[in-house]
Amino acid sequence: MKNRISTAALLLILSSSALAAKDGLKPPFQLALGKQLFEDNCAKCHGQWGNGTDQGPPLTHRFYLPNHHADEAIYRAALNGVRAHHWNFGNMPPVEGISRRKLDRIVPYIRWLQKQQPTLGQ
Ligand code: HEC
Repeated sequence: MKNRISTAALLLILSSSALAAKDGLKPPFQLALGKQLFEDNCAKCHGQWGNGTDQGPPLTHRFYLPNHHADEAIYRAALNGVRAHHWNFGNMPPVEGISRRKLDRIVPYIRWLQKQQPTLGQ
C-alpha cells in the first residue's frame, strides 16, 4: 500500500514537472491576449516562444531588440511583409488578417519574450 502511494506521488511529481516544462515561460496576465495572437499569427514561423523555426528567424535575436528594430518595424513587417535580407528563410509574406489593433497586443508580448530569453550573440 505504502508503495502504491509513493508511485502515485512520483507520477504526480513527474507529470507536474512535465507540465511546467511544456508551459515554459509564464507571461503576466496583461499579455495573455498578445500571447494568443502571437501564437495564432506568428508562432508558425517564429516559434511558440519567438525562438525561431525552420520557416522563420528567432525574434529574440539581437537584430530585433528595440535598439535595432523599433516597434514600428514590427508593425510594418506584419502588415506589409518582409523581403528576405538577414536570413535564408525566404520572404515573410504579409500576415493575413492582421491589424494594427492586434499588433498593439502582439508587440508588447514580443518585447516581453525578448527579455525572457535573449539569444544575444547568435
Ligand atoms: C510564413 C512565415 C512567417 C509568419 C507567419 C510570420 N513571419 Fe515574420 N518573418 C518571417 C521570415 C522568413 C522573416 C525573415 C526575413 C529576413 O530574411 O530578414 C521574418 C522577419 C520578421 C521580422 C523582422 C523584419 C525586419 O525588418 O527585418 C519581424 C519584426 C517579424 N518577422 C515579425 C512577425 C510578426 C509580428 C508576425 C505575426 C504577426 C510574423 N512575423 C509572422 C516569416 C514569417
